Amino acid sequence: MRVATPRSAGVWTAVAVVIVASAAIAAQQDQPERFGFGRPATEAEIAAWDIDVTPDGTGLPPGGGTAVEGRSIYVEKCEICHGAHGEGRPFSQLVGREPRQGFPFGNQPSLVRTIGNYWPFAPTLYDYTFRTMPFDEPGTLEPDEVYALTAFLLYLNDIVAEDDVIDANTLPRVQMPARDKFVGDNRRGGRELR
Ligand code: HEC
Repeated sequence: MRVATPRSAGVWTAVAVVIVASAAIAAQQDQPERFGFGRPATEAEIAAWDIDVTPDGTGLPPGGGTAVEGRSIYVEKCEICHGAHGEGRPFSQLVGREPRQGFPFGNQPSLVRTIGNYWPFAPTLYDYTFRTMPFDEPGTLEPDEVYALTAFLLYLNDIVAEDDVIDANTLPRVQMPARDKFVGDNRRGGRELR
């Protein structure tokens, strides 16, 4: 049997590409316009998935709550994983303002990043909690509960007062301690880094 030389291997590759390309074109031509299954998603179905809340607060739903209300929900649904004071046993630490000055996370990797010392925007705390928590039952919290829990976590981090009402209007105005430590990512397409 003759072993293909690199030159003839190149020819065979070209032939193979032509065959595969023509098969793809033929398959495309045979394809019906519709397959006859599925249906357009309803408004309600889209609304159930369309829950993102952006850093500027876009997408925050109606409703509201205070830390006082959030405390009892936290005890019932969050404490088991995050600890009575958000100290993070067994899972993520939610409370901590240290270091109050500076931002030495880059050269001190042992520092724990928390809502109080690292999160730059308050509305994404709503987004994250609504979308993912409780870890074992995501999607079960009502907006009022999430507002109250957000208020409670901000209160534990010394960012809002216990009776401040947190809602779509007030949450975007909460100034997070680490807010000025980040810049917006305006990279476009290539490998530019800021
Ligand atoms: C069954 C355990 C469990 C329960 C219950 C739970 N969490 Fe979590 N939570 C986790 C785990 C695990 C993570 C880390 C997830 C990851 O990093 O992907 C986390 C992460 C978080 C974070 C992000 C922390 C950070 O700074 O990165 C927040 C905020 C949070 N949880 C809030 C809550 C709230 C509020 C509740 C109650 C409604 C709750 N969690 C209930 C396990 C739990």
